[in-house]
Amino acid sequence: MEFSIKSGSPEKQRGACAVIGIFEAGYLSPSAEALDKASGNAIGRLVRQGDFAGKAGTSLVLHGIPSLQFERILLVGLGKEKAFGDKEYCTAVRTAMKALADTAATEALLTLTALPLGKRSTAWKIRQAVIVAEESRYRFEQFKSKKDEEQRPLNTLTLAIDQRKETGVAEAALAQGLAIAEGVRLAKNLGNLPGNVCTPAHLAETALQMAGEHALECQILEREEMEQLGMNALRSVARGSHQAPKFIVLRHRPADAVNAKPLVLIGKGITFDSGGISLKPGEGMDEMKFDMCGAASVLGAIKAAARLQLPLDIVAIVPASENMPGGSASKPGDIVTTMSGQTVEILNTDAEGRLILCDALTYAARFKPGTVIDVATLTGACVIALGHVASGLFANSDSLARALLKAGERSLDRAWQMPLWEDYQEQLKSNFADMANIGGRPAGSITAACFLSRFSAKTEWAHLDIAGTAWKSGGEKGATGRPVPLLVNYLLERAGRLD
Ligand code: BES
Ligand code: MN
Ligand code: ZN
Repeated sequence: MEFSIKSGSPEKQRGACAVIGIFEAGYLSPSAEALDKASGNAIGRLVRQGDFAGKAGTSLVLHGIPSLQFERILLVGLGKEKAFGDKEYCTAVRTAMKALADTAATEALLTLTALPLGKRSTAWKIRQAVIVAEESRYRFEQFKSKKDEEQRPLNTLTLAIDQRKETGVAEAALAQGLAIAEGVRLAKNLGNLPGNVCTPAHLAETALQMAGEHALECQILEREEMEQLGMNALRSVARGSHQAPKFIVLRHRPADAVNAKPLVLIGKGITFDSGGISLKPGEGMDEMKFDMCGAASVLGAIKAAARLQLPLDIVAIVPASENMPGGSASKPGDIVTTMSGQTVEILNTDAEGRLILCDALTYAARFKPGTVIDVATLTGACVIALGHVASGLFANSDSLARALLKAGERSLDRAWQMPLWEDYQEQLKSNFADMANIGGRPAGSITAACFLSRFSAKTEWAHLDIAGTAWKSGGEKGATGRPVPLLVNYLLERAGRLD
């Protein structure tokens, strides 16, 4: 879909449809007010008659409104004015997109972006509207023989802003919104692909393709190189599978980078997690194809960064493997020597994420990074702790934690910080190796993070556990693309590009 920015009074414009917001109790938004006036109060009259109550999530298409040069007016309910916040704003945009899809209009003017919204800037409103609009058009129909094609799809959306002097800022925000939406789309597509298609090789292929499109440096390490490097924890996870593991490195290294030390993003790329010999129960096991959503999100984030040509040196690292049972699979009780030299007793082969991540964290050190962030669908315990609302955040640096929390708030892709206190480390004690790969049921997501912390002590590091946020189950089963918005917001802030 094409987007553009337009300032100026809506009543002087023309088109197939103008989308205007109406608050509960018939209170018109400023743009609605202006159009109402121009129409000789035709809109206000309708609202007063009670045909449209302005409830959130509702909409009404009007035809033949006099004196306006729009073929249609789409009323969108904004709910109570006092309660109109970030979430309500996004709901309104989503409602508008849904209603527009049901009309024959192929272009529309969205005036919701000109609504006052607390402390949110014009840039924020534009960015978010673009993300929501793109999101509402998303379908994953690659494997459906009959595609759900719209007859007259919307192809152009004009976003209204209040003041002409903000055009430049709004254009930049539009580009950012599109980049984030593209990163989200990539992450969703990779996540939604079935495990027999989205293999480690497919992830590597995707990275290589991105490198070609965006001038990124790409390197894929194969089994032999992993062996030479001593990545035995990662190799132990791949042993049970016929799919070859891949270790993907993708770097965005612009000449004008403002960070002397690169920023490393590591994504867990388990393309299917059966649990291995510690086999998972059958119910819902299909959802373990989403166990590479961390990988998908770092690929989505670096894609957005490349598209926006952010002046940041960023390295995305994806250890990719299947976790399968098999004759050569790791067994509970096996001990491996990680790339760092520390030994691990594998007490449960289903705690495989930390095993591939620990070698990736060790490998990351060769880039002499300033910051390392890993993203992983790491623990079921995180879903119990935070549900599907917030991602779990762990960090060895308060300033990094604060920056990521803020990025989450700003992108409505929130994280919540959990403790990494020393006290939890003792749960990882092993009688036979330096540590065990599990810490028992209590505080499962914290002990998983504690495990990772032993491989990242020397750099500023954060870990995002996205087990509860990376995908939805049930009727709306599918990848969410989270935490791409959080990550890209963090990158934008670091690049000094946020308005
Ligand atoms: N990929 C899973 C975590 C997961 C489970 C994410 C359910 C989303 C929903 C991970 O590899 C795993 O199996 N973790 C185990 C760890 C345990 C054995 C210590 C878990 O959470 O049960
Ligand atoms: Mn597992
Ligand atoms: Zn897993």
